[in-house]
Amino acid sequence: MQMRIVRWTFRVAPALALAMAAVCAAAVGAQAQEPVQVASPDGRNVLTVDTLRRVVEEGEVKWQSGLFYSVERDGQKVVLPSRLGFEFRNAAPLRDGLTITGTARNSVDETWEQPWGEVARVRDHHNELRVSVVERAESGRRFEVVFRVFDDGLGFRYEFPEQPGLASFAIVDELTDFYMADNARAWWIPADGDNRYEYLYSSSRISVLPLVHTPLTMETNDGLHVVIHEANLVDYAAMNLVGSYDRRLKVSLAAWADGVKVRGQTPFVTPWRTIQMADRASDLHPAVLALNLNPPSVLDDTSWIEPMKYVGIWWGMHIGKYTWGSGPKHGATTANTRRYIDFAAENGFGGVLVEGWNVGWDGDWIANAERFSFTEPYPDYDLEGVAAYAKERGVELIGHNETSMGVENYERQLEDAFALYERLGIRAVKTGYVGDLTAEGHAHHGQYMVRHWRKVIETAARHRIMLNVHEPIKDTGERRTYPNMMTREGARGQEYNAWGGEGDGGNPPEHEVILFFTRMISGPMDFTPGVFDILIASSDGGPRPPESQRVRTTLAKQLALYVVLYSPLQMAADLPENYEGQPAFQFILDVPVDWERTEVLDGRIGDYVVVARQERGGTDWYVGAITDEEARTLEISLSFLPEGESYVAEVYADGQGAHWLHNPFPVAISKQSVNAESTLTLELAPGGGQAIRIRPAR
Ligand code: NOJ
Ligand code: CA
Repeated sequence: MQMRIVRWTFRVAPALALAMAAVCAAAVGAQAQEPVQVASPDGRNVLTVDTLRRVVEEGEVKWQSGLFYSVERDGQKVVLPSRLGFEFRNAAPLRDGLTITGTARNSVDETWEQPWGEVARVRDHHNELRVSVVERAESGRRFEVVFRVFDDGLGFRYEFPEQPGLASFAIVDELTDFYMADNARAWWIPADGDNRYEYLYSSSRISVLPLVHTPLTMETNDGLHVVIHEANLVDYAAMNLVGSYDRRLKVSLAAWADGVKVRGQTPFVTPWRTIQMADRASDLHPAVLALNLNPPSVLDDTSWIEPMKYVGIWWGMHIGKYTWGSGPKHGATTANTRRYIDFAAENGFGGVLVEGWNVGWDGDWIANAERFSFTEPYPDYDLEGVAAYAKERGVELIGHNETSMGVENYERQLEDAFALYERLGIRAVKTGYVGDLTAEGHAHHGQYMVRHWRKVIETAARHRIMLNVHEPIKDTGERRTYPNMMTREGARGQEYNAWGGEGDGGNPPEHEVILFFTRMISGPMDFTPGVFDILIASSDGGPRPPESQRVRTTLAKQLALYVVLYSPLQMAADLPENYEGQPAFQFILDVPVDWERTEVLDGRIGDYVVVARQERGGTDWYVGAITDEEARTLEISLSFLPEGESYVAEVYADGQGAHWLHNPFPVAISKQSVNAESTLTLELAPGGGQAIRIRPAR
């Protein structure tokens, strides 16, 4: 009811509203100003900026002064007037008594090409509103807020020009909030745990949210899908959101050891706060809002950056067959690595990841971060020889740097290590940050670590190294500016299935159908699909009880994940021996890692999704469909194919009686002729999936 009154006040009678606001403004000692607006190119999304907002506290109407933004879509309120501002250490907050001194507008419509991605070309079509603001207090601090409104959502950021009253500063709180009009349902992971982003998703009304990570995906009671996230996080703390027992989500920033959130000096810009909106869950992808809010690539030559599939000495450690450290089960031996290189070469994989090659793993590697060397191999690993052998066989060696959050130890060695890898022809490195705080007590997602990750990206770029970051900072679109920032973890990947355990052990069958609409909105993920030995029979005891140590999907769903969960470095995670004699392995060999177009054909968060992607620069299409623990029959139209052409669909479906729990292995492989008029009926088993290659008929 209250919402209606507010709408009537501002939409139907703006003159009256302004008059009322003037009276109320006088009461709070402010001056009423005309609200300013900017709309998306299609006119559906409208953003309003105002210096007053009306709130009802304990039944009483009050007017607050400050700076507020609100968002409507198709005339419906999505975000109610929400605060903008900051609190500083040793300085007054920048919150009250603000006057808009000017506005500037701009419009952009341009299309740019990605070196690699879910889509080859991205359209940046938006209207911009720049709002200049000054404090009425004597200090007279000035800042600007820039809003960019697109058809698929909007972003805004704060800019602080250089000024005497605001030179260097320490932000202790960012006051930005997102006051949602609807008590939407959200899918979230907690942001205050010591396991970083590696939690199972929960779903609840936003009114009861604890401290959560972004991207935060919500579905309103009217079916609108809204994702709050951020873009271009370069020198700032990661933004988390905290609930309020109301519909207000407030920004909460990760901290330095001394409690400060962000240290800066003017001129200074914050990351963009983004609000993506889509009418259906399936319209959330391809998600390009954050990419459009990042600067274009700074790398002139990107020819050395190549998406690839890879295998690795990796799963063996997680299932207990190998060890990272030295000893009889050491995985990274020269002989074993040569065997993996041979397997990669024979099957056309681009790379071989080798973990546990370097000194530092013995004992408690999580506690002994300082012991890691990033240049010294174990004696049974002939680094130079193995690198030369990989080159000879046309395969890339993928380096591995686990830091255990020993960031200073890593930074001391970074330059030497990357120079060594460059000399050896190692063009991709996987990094890792197992641990919660740095040794100095800075948060895993705070400004200190954000600066570190940027430094690693820049150092890697100078040495022509592609990155795959585990225990990373969330993706905020860095890959546009640094296309060597390929992929990252930042959610529970396949490894959780290897560890098993009770309760929170492995990933349940619904995990990946939530991931697609949450974590994957931010960008590629190194989930590491492709485990065929679903029950992990090849485990040698394993780190956890064997009965819980297993994968919770069917085999066909493992194939479908290659299409659904995008990554430009995409692993075939299982042991090479587990692919032997498996006809379904052909799909992993065929599936590309770089796409021309992406279309989500159907989907519901946490239930199922069907994704179609066209190979980059090619004519093949691939379809991946996955479901949660429910069996489903889905009809899909192939109208995305060009008209009048004949194709062959190579189908890898859940076989007769397949079930993730009781019978995960059957895969039915078949072929059929199809064209743009065809409709396919996909039968997905409980916890199952289907993968399809669609190639021109020859
Ligand atoms: C956790 C990573 O996710 C995993 O891929 C890696 O093998 C271990 N850390 C060791 O670095
Ligand atoms: Ca991990």
